Amino acid sequence: MRAPKDFFRPLAVGAPTPVREVPFRPSRMIHFFDPGNEKMAAKIPVIAPTVDVLLGNLEDAVAADRKEAARDGLVKIARATDFGDTQLWTRINSLDSPWVLDDLLTLVTEIGDKLDVIMVPKVEGAADIHYIDRLLAQLEAKAGVRRPILVHAILETATGVAGVEEIAGASPRMQGVSLGPADLAASRRMKTTRVGGGHPGYLVRQDPDTQDADAPRATYQQDLWHYTLARMVDACAAHGILPYYGPFGDIKDTTACEDQFRNAFLLGCVGAWSLHPVQIGIAKKVFSPSPDEVRWARRVIEAMGDGTGAVMLDGKMQDDATFKQCQVVVELAEALAA
Ligand code: GLV
Ligand code: MG
Repeated sequence: MRAPKDFFRPLAVGAPTPVREVPFRPSRMIHFFDPGNEKMAAKIPVIAPTVDVLLGNLEDAVAADRKEAARDGLVKIARATDFGDTQLWTRINSLDSPWVLDDLLTLVTEIGDKLDVIMVPKVEGAADIHYIDRLLAQLEAKAGVRRPILVHAILETATGVAGVEEIAGASPRMQGVSLGPADLAASRRMKTTRVGGGHPGYLVRQDPDTQDADAPRATYQQDLWHYTLARMVDACAAHGILPYYGPFGDIKDTTACEDQFRNAFLLGCVGAWSLHPVQIGIAKKVFSPSPDEVRWARRVIEAMGDGTGAVMLDGKMQDDATFKQCQVVVELAEALAA
């Protein structure tokens, strides 16, 4: 097994003082599976080496009468599988559900030493994270789990979005935050029934031609999730944790999935959820800087010497700030290659 990486600082270069240091581990795709589904469970040893993160889902998409089977299935799989470098995460049930206490009790006690991250859905504020943090500390102490389990929050209620800064900084256990567009749409009473992605009705239309009122007018579809993603990325960067786009539900529309993932990557996200094997390769490609970008970034870094001043490269101005932008790209590429 590869030694754990000692990349103990956030990837965002140029932040005045990193608030906290998170060890870097690749997490370009968080691959969801239902541990109570025996057919899916049987494929885990084959899928594990192809993904950065495997997530045993206990929450939504697992029916109420299958919750125990999913929890027990995850314990069985975690015990039986050597995950190698692949991280094992779980999504527990929400804090207002009747299942969450048993989720935490069982998982920390039985497989706490194998779990890297617990994803907590429908987080509304710092108090939710404080509760999980305290409970995890107690359960870890009781079970003798020596490596603290990290916490990942899903941003999927209007209240959660309003409190994203306090959520991101609520505990040293915070690993990251994902956007949950489906629940968030419902919470905000948005009128889309899609799981993430765009909507053909959300657009801007070109002004009418003043010379020809009947001339066709172009329309441009807009990104429904831009505001929330940008807000989430800022909150995560400010607290030295990692932002993720969440699920893309139209499995057949691989083009739109790639577009949504790329928008998130360009805005600062480090990964997204994959709900189907077809999305694994998309996430891997999108969330890894392209060789061309890395080559360009290295040229800028080399041309900038000590990183101060200004130079022209292929007609483009470079200075201290572009030097830092290029460091972000190169550091990510190197961390992923290590
Ligand atoms: C994910 O959980 C979502 O609600 O989009
Ligand atoms: Mg949800």
